[in-house]
Amino acid sequence: MKPLFIVFEGIDGAGTTTQCHCLCAQLRAAGHDIVQTREPGGTEAGEKIRALLLDPAFDCLDNRAELLLYAASRRQLVAQIIQPALRSHKPVISDRYTCSSLAYQGIARGLGLPLVRQVNDVATAGLHADLTIYLDLDVQTALARRKTRSAGVEDRIEKAGTRFQARVREAYLELARENPAQSLVLDAAQTAETVSIQVYDALIERFPQFPYRISV
Ligand code: TYD
Repeated sequence: MKPLFIVFEGIDGAGTTTQCHCLCAQLRAAGHDIVQTREPGGTEAGEKIRALLLDPAFDCLDNRAELLLYAASRRQLVAQIIQPALRSHKPVISDRYTCSSLAYQGIARGLGLPLVRQVNDVATAGLHADLTIYLDLDVQTALARRKTRSAGVEDRIEKAGTRFQARVREAYLELARENPAQSLVLDAAQTAETVSIQVYDALIERFPQFPYRISV
């Protein structure tokens, strides 16, 4: 059976990292061999690109250069980690993927979806997630959560402000509406525990092969 590729998406502070960790921890505790990744980053080269992308010192970064750097990190992750994992029948769970570029660079930065789709196609060679879980949260709650988490220190993308984050949120909701078969929107204002239960339940309901166990 085909191993699942599951992605978490959401605005900054919506809890993608927490939920990705939660799901991976639950699956590992139950004895499943899974691959956990994150974007930007997830490989040695990708982590260097991530540092550049998030460094507030690079506030002059051109929007297309930003798009290409996210895509370069994604390409390396797909080639080095995601494709080999799926080929060896391991499920992959990622903190962000292509929809981040569609929402942040395509809509919020205004580069347009056709250009971002083209660049994503180069980066992924057409590899799509089986399910993208959108953690939906209003920007003020997300901002408050980020402030508690990082003591008010913002990275380069977070510095783009709440109107930017609001555009990203709307873009995510639109992307989910466009592709309901491969999307799940959850209310991220709930507790992390409640959201993680909803994630698990939704996966069981949607995929007969979940949780996936490799037969040895
Ligand atoms: P993230 O790891 O969620 O940040 P944090 O560690 O602060 O939780 O994501 C890094 C930032 O990069 C986030 O603001 C979203 C942004 N991003 C894009 O703009 N485009 C992309 O393609 C990706 C993957 C992320």
